[in-house]
Amino acid sequence: MHYLDHAATTPIVPEAKAALLAFLDGDFGNPASVHAYGRAARRGVEDAREQVAAAIGASPAEITFTAGGTEADNLAIKGVGTKLGGNGNHVVTSAFEHHAVLHSVEHLQDGGFQVTVVEVGSDGLVDPRRIGDAVRRDTILVSVMAVNNEIGTVQDMAAIVAAAKDANRSTLVHSDAVQALGNIPVDVHRLGVDLASFSAHKLGGAKGVGALFVRSGVPVAAQLHGGGHERGLRSGTLNTPGVAAFGAAAEVAAEEVHAKSERLLKLRDRLLEGVRAAVPDVVVNGTLDARVPGNLNVSFPGASGETLLLLLDAAGIACSSGSACQSGALDPSHVLLAIGLPPRLADASIRFSLGRASSEEDVRAVLDALPEAVERARKAA
Ligand SMILES: Cc1ncc(COP(=O)(O)O)c(C=O)c1O
Repeated sequence: MHYLDHAATTPIVPEAKAALLAFLDGDFGNPASVHAYGRAARRGVEDAREQVAAAIGASPAEITFTAGGTEADNLAIKGVGTKLGGNGNHVVTSAFEHHAVLHSVEHLQDGGFQVTVVEVGSDGLVDPRRIGDAVRRDTILVSVMAVNNEIGTVQDMAAIVAAAKDANRSTLVHSDAVQALGNIPVDVHRLGVDLASFSAHKLGGAKGVGALFVRSGVPVAAQLHGGGHERGLRSGTLNTPGVAAFGAAAEVAAEEVHAKSERLLKLRDRLLEGVRAAVPDVVVNGTLDARVPGNLNVSFPGASGETLLLLLDAAGIACSSGSACQSGALDPSHVLLAIGLPPRLADASIRFSLGRASSEEDVRAVLDALPEAVERARKAA
């Protein structure tokens, strides 16, 4: 099998697996317990907090562990909404956010908030000026993703933050950076964001673990209530093995990001070159100029992406059509529609996403299988 679906999830890296097993079996204590078992587990959590903080340029006190990227997005958006609702009731986001953001914003809207959804350019980029224009005196929060999960486009978050803050100094900016960490260097303070979401399984950690960066002093209301864990921001016993693995994975990801980027960019370009040679009318979705190195999202006019996905799977190639986060949904991807693709072309899309273990052989396997698969998928459409 050839795995080209790293934007859906990544295999665990050895360092993270070792950390996971150490806290699953040996140091199994509850990190809230005062005895030696608890203290060992607590150390694991706090070491991981330092590792995750270091990987994103934050301080450990600014990291709150969650049960994944979805929960981090929910905590950021609903948490700020709950806390600052009295100061204003307007929220700004973009049209191609992950559903964890879009649906959290809709939840605020159901509760009486006003929402402005900013359009995305056909290049897959959010124009900072549109953000500046959308921010009002009563805007409490802007949420724009750092890297899109389907087309891999990288937003100019520093410019987006600057535009939002120029329009209203007290507006907070959240970024879903789930697809950024491990793919591009991330420094939350350089970007200027107030809140940012991360997910361990996208960078070689385990599923069901994430983190929310909350810049020191930024007000967020807890969305899970109970024993007051995570400084009262997120109650519930932490997934200690998963958190320890997240720390190890984040450290590896930060160390390797530059070398990995260079390697993946070459592989991705070779893949694109081969795809263009095999299927000349292929359409690349989103700009190639500001995109994570491992992502290639393309449409094959006249083919069904679903059929193509199944044919490639039968040929031993794992990739994705639309977003795996909405598995089961056959509607055209909201991301591709947001960048202006007609529904038929959105339906004809495939996302290849390369990662740490991707190789020349993976690219070759795709290029070997693709011409026949596209021809058959076109006949079946
Ligand atoms: C951009 C983005 N945000 C949020 C999520 C959700 O993360 P998790 O799977 O950890 O809940 C994903 C996962 O696909 C994602 O790609």
